[in-house]
Amino acid sequence: MTKTAAIIGGGVIGGGWAARFLLNGWDVRVFDPDPEAERKIGEVLDNARRSLPGLSDVPLPAEGALSFHDDMADAVQGATWVQESVPERLDLKLKVYKGLQEACDPDAIIGSSTSGFKPSELQEGALRPEQIVVTHPFNPVYLLPLIELVPTDKNPQQMIERARELLTSVGFFPLHVKKEIDAHIADRFLEAVWREALWLVKDGIATTEEIDEAIRMGFGIRWAQMGLFETYRVAGGEAGMRHFMAQFGPALKWPWTKLMDVPEFTDELVDLIADQSDAQSGMHSIRELERIRDNNLVGMMRALKAQNYGAGAVLNQHDALLKPGALPSLDQADLSQPILTLSRAVPLDWTDYNGHMNEAKYLEAFAAATDRFMEIIGCDMEYIASGGSYFTAENHIRYIDEVHAGAKIDVRTQMLLGQGKKLHVFHSMYEGDKLLATGESFLLHVSLETRRPSPPSPKIEAAMARIAEAQAGLPYPEGAGAAIRKPS
Ligand SMILES: NC(=O)c1ccc[n+]([C@@H]2O[C@H](COP(=O)([O-])OP(=O)(O)OC[C@H]3O[C@@H](n4cnc5c(N)ncnc54)[C@H](O)[C@@H]3O)[C@@H](O)[C@H]2O)c1
Repeated sequence: MTKTAAIIGGGVIGGGWAARFLLNGWDVRVFDPDPEAERKIGEVLDNARRSLPGLSDVPLPAEGALSFHDDMADAVQGATWVQESVPERLDLKLKVYKGLQEACDPDAIIGSSTSGFKPSELQEGALRPEQIVVTHPFNPVYLLPLIELVPTDKNPQQMIERARELLTSVGFFPLHVKKEIDAHIADRFLEAVWREALWLVKDGIATTEEIDEAIRMGFGIRWAQMGLFETYRVAGGEAGMRHFMAQFGPALKWPWTKLMDVPEFTDELVDLIADQSDAQSGMHSIRELERIRDNNLVGMMRALKAQNYGAGAVLNQHDALLKPGALPSLDQADLSQPILTLSRAVPLDWTDYNGHMNEAKYLEAFAAATDRFMEIIGCDMEYIASGGSYFTAENHIRYIDEVHAGAKIDVRTQMLLGQGKKLHVFHSMYEGDKLLATGESFLLHVSLETRRPSPPSPKIEAAMARIAEAQAGLPYPEGAGAAIRKPS
């Protein structure tokens, strides 16, 4: 099969399709009368190249060739997949299909990105209606997996299968929508939420920002990993979905929404949903589902934390509140002993397939301890902003014992050398009294301007001298200076 896709309409959505196909090794031929299309697609592609390949843990295929065409017939010739993403106007879309069906391969699949039109409306009056299907993506098309694949009974089963396979081959999750309906499945929710949101703003109940906070700080993260029904199944607790529905069923009659056209809350509806929910999630106990949910939430919230965004920013603010009490400063610490530089619980996403902390996370913990030691001697964010910092030149970790998610770990740090531009520290990680690992780091002070070694500030020199003097009586730690021995 030739892997050539024609993109008809290269705006926000067409550009995303172009990127998805190209980065998955397809040749992409674009037709868009807008003279800016090439620039716009180039910009979408830059963002896609930055984000998509690293989502995979394996290399993506070599990028395909991208070409722009002034003539639609030229663009679609030889294409296996034709993706229409022109503006959402039925007359325009029908006109486009007429033109492209005269030129494209009768075996090519013509997917429409339409957010709202039914495939039967798009097939109306077409030269070959069986060739046209709705493939509705979500922005950014190069990252989000969902494609609503909406056929009609004019599309042969074998064509739907082929569409599904091709979409899957470029990393999509095609959701086969079995009955066509205006706006398919996902946009119906979005539309309902959007309409409520407009009322809330118009009635002065909430601002746009408050509405976004209500979504992203809570149920939005929950929905992202379990959707609606599995989440509510967990909310029903051990009594399950029927119980959940019995509890919340009467609310359908309450004025909790402006959308007051509600389905009759009958036993049949409860049975329909409870049975489908059993089929969907019944293989897990509620406790298991809770643990799956918690693992997912922790992973997502910690990812947001690294971006300091949304719920992740709240986590960082909470850490900042807790921090002053957690670790001693230069003046608070007993400098004659190794200094407490890290104290935390092992997060769920630090453990691996063996059920214990992943080896790379030991380094992450030791790196955090080094950062704290730097702060203690005065190399804090303010100092770094003024142009000096420490760069790590060498690390050596010894893994001594296992540790599991939730365990509370402490790292204590002995300074082996702190003089001039050199800083040599030895970290010991404990769970209670149990030694888990040691991490030895050698760092050099650098000027962030020249990126070359340079002496630290007199204040840092003085702090290091204080610690050196206080720790002079400590024995040289066992394992310090160790290296992996040559096999004999
Ligand atoms: N924006 C979204 O979030 C979103 C999400 C999913 C689906 N969609 C659907 O995708 C389609 C495109 O939406 P968009 O947001 O990318 O719009 P857009 O306005 O960003 O892009 C439309 C592009 O089509 C081009 N165009 C206009 N007439 C054309 C023609 N005759 N032939 C070829 N190209 C032509 C325009 O120059 C423009 O570049 C719509 O059907 C929309 O419903 C949009």
